[in-house]
Amino acid sequence: MITKEHITKLKQNGNGEIAALINTQRDVGSINFILESLGRLPNNFNAEFLYELLNHSHSQVRLNAVKNIGKLNGKSDTDCLFQLYQKENDTTVRREIVSSIGRQRKISNKPILFNFLKDEDPKIVCQAIRGLLVFENDKEVEKNLRPLVNHPNEMVRTVIYKEYFAQENQHKSVLPHAETYDFLKNVVVNADVLETLKFVPDESIHLTFTSPPYYNARDYSIYPSYQAYLEFLEKVFLETHRITKEGRFLIVNTSPIIIPRVSRSHSSKRYGIPFDLHPYLVKNGWDFIDDIVWLKPESSVKNRIGGFMQHRKPLGYKPNSITEYLMVYRKSTEKLLDWNIRNYNYKTVEESKVADGYETSNVWKIDPCFDKVHSAIFPVELCKRVIQYYSYKGDLIFDPFGGSGTVGRTAKLLDRLFFLTEQEPKYFEYMKTKTKPHTMFNERKTRFLTLEQFQEIAK
Ligand SMILES: C[S@@+](CC[C@H](N)C(=O)[O-])C[C@H]1O[C@@H](n2cnc3c(N)ncnc32)[C@H](O)[C@@H]1O
Repeated sequence: MITKEHITKLKQNGNGEIAALINTQRDVGSINFILESLGRLPNNFNAEFLYELLNHSHSQVRLNAVKNIGKLNGKSDTDCLFQLYQKENDTTVRREIVSSIGRQRKISNKPILFNFLKDEDPKIVCQAIRGLLVFENDKEVEKNLRPLVNHPNEMVRTVIYKEYFAQENQHKSVLPHAETYDFLKNVVVNADVLETLKFVPDESIHLTFTSPPYYNARDYSIYPSYQAYLEFLEKVFLETHRITKEGRFLIVNTSPIIIPRVSRSHSSKRYGIPFDLHPYLVKNGWDFIDDIVWLKPESSVKNRIGGFMQHRKPLGYKPNSITEYLMVYRKSTEKLLDWNIRNYNYKTVEESKVADGYETSNVWKIDPCFDKVHSAIFPVELCKRVIQYYSYKGDLIFDPFGGSGTVGRTAKLLDRLFFLTEQEPKYFEYMKTKTKPHTMFNERKTRFLTLEQFQEIAK
């Protein structure tokens, strides 16, 4: 039996003993085992057999051969690799060829790497870009790469944008990342969100968690059409984008809804709000990050399956909806999350660390909450998780559709700050009654303001 130790010994002899071993193998598995066990190759390694294996009928063998040729550190024969690239059909092998050539960091390989930029496979193009970017301040490289900012593939565009254009368009935040304006801290405005946001400066909030109106399914909102509703939300989240700090999160809780039928001769209409809203968000500078499913007990939701239980006729199946979505987005940026985190001091990072018992999957089992006054309030547990997982202590949390103020109260509970808008006076007043000044809001008093009062303090 061939062992790794045996392969290592033969390899160090460097005089073709590995080639001889491979020649005696009858099955592809053993050849691959030898190739995958080679590890680092010594300087005197006789690599001729690797080039012969480039013509092997099995793609995994060709892939392993290319990988080992890539370890020859600038001594590999690029022409052989390029010839294989031209006739190779296996995408993994093709990508490995490009990566192998790129890793050599040889100026003479530039023309071949420029050639790869025309490949249809975006991963090959990205691989070639990576190989070219090692030639820093190279005008020829820059001339070939800059136009790719208009490449059809988004990954390619992002890499090029980051490399050549991001500096030019850098966000100009007036305040340090972890800080915000005093006049926004623990404020609730009784007004339309779009009117209110006119007075909120760019890049002033750290996190938005919200549950927008459910189109016309509840009595607190009436829109002339579903399209008008989506366009209203588009505007709200465009403004939210403007006031959000670089690279920070937006979490939108929605679910498909049903508008009951007009009469027995019509069907009820279902609207897939999370799916219809998603393209508007992505188009407007929000990167999609995650879909979290909020799972409720079946006993807590409306019974839709009753009719089917009686008749059992296919097509008439209507399952009980026990889920809602928490769609997680991040304000587009070239910066990594590490950059956001580095903007907080050691103490804040330590104190904000999430304690044991956190949710590990994207399905969150949480009981819904029922309220006498407001028909759709967040369970505190849902707010707690979102705020703890997506913000740091001292951050400003925004809810454009404040309702009964659950986001605000929970933010305060977790040593964060909040800024809410709620247009219905009934809910605004209700929020005041839920605010206990001596317990929850003792450090920084909550300010309940009209739009005019807010406008005044925003000056
Ligand atoms: C689904 S509820 C939010 C409930 C909230 N998450 C809670 O825990 O109480 C949506 C809220 O948005 C409010 N709203 C609707 N349109 C608004 C607008 N244009 N500006 C501000 N608030 C609005 C409604 O009055 C309603 O209270």
